[in-house]
Parts: sequence; C-alpha cells; structure tokens
Amino acid sequence: MRTGAGFVLATTNPNKAREIRQIFSSAGIGAELAERPGWVPEVEETEATLLGNALLKARALVEATGRPAIAEDTGLEVEALGGAPGVRSARYAGEPPDEQANVDKVLDELSGLDEPDRRAARFVTVAVACWPDGHEVVAEGAVQGRLAHRRRGRGGFGYDPVFVPDEGDGRTFAEMEEAEPGAKHALSHRGRAFRALAAAISGDH
Ligand code: IMP
Repeated sequence: MRTGAGFVLATTNPNKAREIRQIFSSAGIGAELAERPGWVPEVEETEATLLGNALLKARALVEATGRPAIAEDTGLEVEALGGAPGVRSARYAGEPPDEQANVDKVLDELSGLDEPDRRAARFVTVAVACWPDGHEVVAEGAVQGRLAHRRRGRGGFGYDPVFVPDEGDGRTFAEMEEAEPGAKHALSHRGRAFRALAAAISGDH
C-alpha cells in the first residue's frame, strides 16, 4: 500500500480538485490530497497526449516538493470533428482558456448535425500517481455520450452542460450535478480513472 504519506495534487482547478476528493472518499481511499503549494510554478502542457501532459505535471510536482504527486489530464473527443478538441480541450477557442467560448465553438461546429449518432463524443481522463523513487501508476477512464444542441443544467463545469452520457437518463452531466453534486462520478471519465487509480495504488506493495 503506497497511500500512507498522502499526495500533492497537481491541479489548481477547484472543480477538478473537488471531484477528485469526492471520488477518492467514496472509494474509501483515505489518502490526504494536499493542494499544490503556491510557490510551485504552473507546468506548460506541451505534450501531444493526455498521458504525456499528466506525467509532465506529476513529475514536475514530485521534483519540486519531494512528495508523491497525483495529476490528470482530460479531453473531450468529438467523433464528427475527428477527435477534436481532444488534448486541446482547454484552449479550443484560443488563449486565454475560456470555457464558455469553448462550448460555443463545439456547438457551432456541430450545427446542422442533427441525428444523435452524428453528435457522438467521449470524455477521456488519464490519471497518474508518481513517487520520489520513480515509481509511477497510470489509469484511464472514459465515458461515451453525445453533445446536446444547447446547454442544459447549471451544475458541473467545462463542457458538462452539453454532454449527455449514453448510460444515463438523457440528462447532461450539468443537470445531474445540479440535482446532486457528485452524481456524475458513477459514470464519468474522472470517476472511472480515479477509481482505477485508487485500486492500483491500494494494491501496490
Ligand atoms: P484540462 O484537463 O485541465 O486540460 O481540461 C481540459 C478542458 O476540458 C477544460 O476546458 C475543462 O474545463 C474541460 N473539462 C475537464 N474535465 C471536465 C469534465 O469533467 N466535464 C466537463 N468539462 C471538463
């Protein structure tokens, strides 16, 4: 078991940090997840893959703090857009990152595609844990769904108002989160990735 000392979390996105803590606590993982210290600089996400960026962030944090670290990278892959925005999801509409503009851009690009099958998309999260001794654990989670024609719901963040998971009841992730915070984790990319990461960490000797 490698959870003893706890971890430093690479993300400074409060939505992601809250979700990761919710998922770990419902998975029964009591590991402390500390915030990234303010003096650790932000890592530029220069890699071409979610895994590359997640490792970049976690390794830099281990290097800076000397403590075990957890990082993740997430992308929305829209089938009709050839997998875009993918690894560029945060900056799809340009710099600086703007979640409203990103959603507008995706909706715009899908305008005219009305059959549900042509609006297929998936969220993918790659989560990694890295230790000072060089040990690394990687886990991935994905959820298949489709993009709604307009925003629905006020919960969640990012692309949640337009993402309808196939395994759900027709609500967007934002509608599910508005009704009950944490509800999306049973199905979500992040829920799946971090439950798998927690299981891998717990089974590690
Ligand atoms: P990154 O992993 O911080 O690079 O985030 C990629 C982009 O996807 C950002 O615009 C986030 O707002 C968005 N995003 C990440 N996770 C989720 C999620 O669970 N739901 C909706 N959007 C998300």
